Order: sequence, then C-alpha cells, then structure tokens
Amino acid sequence: MINVAIEAAREAGEFLRYSVGKVRTIETKQGEVRNLVSEIDRGAEEKIIGLIRRHYPAHGVLAEESGMNNPGAEYRWIIDPLDGTTNFLHGLPVFCVTIGIEHRGEIIAGVVYDPNQDILYAAEKGSGAYMNGRRLHVSTTRELINSLLMTGFPYDVAQNPEHVVEHFVSFLMEAGGIRRFGSAALDLCYLAAGILDGFWEVNLHAWDMAAGILMVTEAGGRVSDFDGGPLSIYGKKVVASNGFVHDAMVRVLGKHRTSGAEGVKTS
Ligand code: IPD
Ligand code: CA
Ligand code: CA
Repeated sequence: MINVAIEAAREAGEFLRYSVGKVRTIETKQGEVRNLVSEIDRGAEEKIIGLIRRHYPAHGVLAEESGMNNPGAEYRWIIDPLDGTTNFLHGLPVFCVTIGIEHRGEIIAGVVYDPNQDILYAAEKGSGAYMNGRRLHVSTTRELINSLLMTGFPYDVAQNPEHVVEHFVSFLMEAGGIRRFGSAALDLCYLAAGILDGFWEVNLHAWDMAAGILMVTEAGGRVSDFDGGPLSIYGKKVVASNGFVHDAMVRVLGKHRTSGAEGVKTS
C-alpha cells in the first residue's frame, strides 16, 4: 500500500509542479474569501484516487475535494492533493501532496511528497520515518526559548477562532522563533526531520495531518491536543513537538482556553 501511496504522491506532485502559473479558474470554498481552490487541486486528487481505486477498489477514501467515500471500509486513504494551495497559486514553491492510510482508526502509513525539492517523506507504523530513504529523528532542543516553532492560521482567522491570535502572541514572547510556511503537512515533516522543534495549529483537517502526524511520532516526537491529551486527526487542535518542549507548549496554550461548544474563554 505504501508503494501505491508513493506512486500516487509522485505523480500528483509532478502535475502540481508543472501546473504552477497555468491555473485557469480560482474559486472560493464555503464562502471563505481566503479558502481557494482551482482545477489543479481537483485534477491532482483525481489522479491519486484513480490509482488507489485501480489497486484497492474496496478501500475507503477521505479526500479534501471529493469528501468521504465508503466510510465503513477497513482501510481509509486520507488525501490532501495540494497542501499549500495559497502558496501554489502565488508561485511560492512550498506545497506538497500528502496521503495517510488508516486501518481501523489507526494511521499505519503516511507519505508526503514535496515536488519542488523532489523530497519524499514516508513513514510506516513501527518502522520509522524517512526522507528520501534517510531515517528521520526529531531535534533534541530542550527549552522553549531555544526552540524554532511553526504554526499556521485557519482561513477564518479574522474571527480569531480558538484564540489563535492570543496563542501566536504568547509563543512570540516565549519561543526562540516562529515561522508560518503555509503547508501543515510539510511543517510536520520539518519537525520530524529535526529542523523545527514544535508545531501547533487549530482547525486543521484529517487530510492535512494524517501522514505528518505519523511522520512525527515515527521520528520520536510527541503529538497531543492543546491539553496534552490524546490527539485525534479528526479533532481540531494539534500540538506536535520533539517531546522535550511539549509540556511547555501545552502550558502556553493553556493561557487561553476555549471550553466546549459554547466557546467560552475560561482564562
Ligand atoms: C492549509 C495549509 C496551511 C494551514 C491551513 C490549511 P490547504 O491547507 O496546510 O498551512 O495553515 O490551515 O488549510 O488549504 O492549502 O490544503
Ligand atoms: Ca491542506
Ligand atoms: Ca488542499
């Protein structure tokens, strides 16, 4: 299965790279002015799903542009055909294809392909994470003040969901540095590769993080929700780190907390 994921990611990635600057139609999604999609996102997704279907017609698929298919299947392929759409549309070469494979609720394999650098990240549960065949390990940075952190902003950032602005300001004060590259899947790969020390974001989707989360854990990192509890890729809040700075990140995120469905600020 991972070989099919790799083939699909490479094929779609080449298509993305070739398509920079050749987009015909850009639309907004769900009425959000910042959330853009083009025929290239959809075309890449069709290529990926077509290949998966040829090999595994009975498997389920959850893909950003076409949604859920066969939800009761034992295996589910979780696909973002173009992570970093805003970058892609501007010609900024920071985007990727990301594919995770879930078996009965557990992510068992993940692939992220960066077509601009021709770098393939791949992980299998229990077998480690690799970057073009080289084993990955998270960093050993121990203090937040020495850490390089990454985050991203949801498309509805203007509504400041989940105190995204306050969290950013708090980390700005406490971390060594913060970056925002615009592709959550690549962000998680950079964390797995030991380049970054921590990552947090709200309102990500399963397709943004399925593969990247496995990359981080297989490289020795830690992932959780904002309270330090177990992470679900179907949850809304993710913290990922080298493990050493994790508790400090959870502490910073605890300064501004949203409770339950009411969205009440509790501190
Ligand atoms: C986005 C990217 C970005 C993150 C957004 C995502 P898309 O995915 O991963 O880094 O901050 O929250 O939606 O829309 O480019 O596939
Ligand atoms: Ca995405
Ligand atoms: Ca996408």
